[in-house]
Amino acid sequence: MNLLESMIQRAQGEKQRIVLPEGTEPRTLEAADRLLRDGVAEIILLGKPEMIREIAREAELKNIEGATIIHPGDHEKKGDYTNLLLELRSKKGMTAEQASLLVEDPLYLACLMIKNGDADGEVAGAENTTGDVLRPALQIIRTLPGVKVVSGAFIMFTQTPQYGENGILLFADCAVMPNPTAVELASIAVSSAQTARSLAGVEPRVAMLSFSTKGSAEHEMIDKVREATRIAREMNPDLLIDGELQADAALVPSVGSGKAPGSIVAGKANVLVFPTLEAGNIGYKLVQRLGNAEAVGPILQGMAAPVNDLSRGCSVDDIYNMVAITANQAIGLKQNS
Ligand code: ACO
Repeated sequence: MNLLESMIQRAQGEKQRIVLPEGTEPRTLEAADRLLRDGVAEIILLGKPEMIREIAREAELKNIEGATIIHPGDHEKKGDYTNLLLELRSKKGMTAEQASLLVEDPLYLACLMIKNGDADGEVAGAENTTGDVLRPALQIIRTLPGVKVVSGAFIMFTQTPQYGENGILLFADCAVMPNPTAVELASIAVSSAQTARSLAGVEPRVAMLSFSTKGSAEHEMIDKVREATRIAREMNPDLLIDGELQADAALVPSVGSGKAPGSIVAGKANVLVFPTLEAGNIGYKLVQRLGNAEAVGPILQGMAAPVNDLSRGCSVDDIYNMVAITANQAIGLKQNS
């Protein structure tokens, strides 16, 4: 059984309530239909019920009957959610009028449902940008205690079993923080190790990547990676982490032992933490396209409850899999709380 199959099975065993704010989006509805058919999650669709039912009827999506459908402009908890939003955001200048409008925005409503304990996770992004999906989640759900930043990881299923964990590696941050500080980068490393352990099922060996290995060059960008490595060790003394390392020193045993002798990670890293979003985003796409790797993500990590963003070019399968991943994150968070 591969990793995704085992995640689907785990989700089926402990069904989570996953809210899909893009309830009238056709690929989302088709994925919801399959998820309900397979019993992967309880599905909450946001949108006008008559419109959702009409699209489902036309596409012959019979299982949609099993979803909970909520009209963002007209539902019984609207007052409660408006008060909750105001409570969370009034100190940031949000007025009652703004809150009563935002609560009808499905992307805000989904986060408020999670915050209020009415849903366990969210998947969106088939028709909204990353920023629009993330902003309400960052404002309402916020980070886990002790976690500085939310970041985005990819599980990379490469064609190179000699690297990582039989070819499986976790890359981060590839999706959220454009230019993390040393403290933020350390937090990304610790979250990535946690994601590798809980979702990818691998015991993390974290490489903090740079264009230098152990002092082979000097630059303030390298200093940031060294400092982040030090802070991550302080945050989690048991973590197998090392840096700064170049990508080849992180991955290839002979290069690792030559450039970073004695390192506990060099030559055998399975978690790669990139120094900036530019490096991470470009890096994962190069491995995906040139190396023909399967890239599963971005999986948002560090959030107090799981919210995941889709690419607008996503397929029905991508949405299905992302719901299964989100459900696994929700199960993991409940187990750790
Ligand atoms: N972790 C935790 N909290 C955060 C983070 C973060 N990474 N980023 C912002 N916040 C918080 C802020 O502290 C702020 O909180 P407050 O309002 O309570 O003070 C709130 O979220 C809003 O922050 P802003 O900076 O005002 O929000 P902004 O809209 O500028 O940016 C965003 C947030 C959307 C994540 C932005 O950083 C972004 O667009 N990042 C890049 C996303 C992207 O385009 N990725 C590439 C595509 S994805 C792909 O290719 C896989």
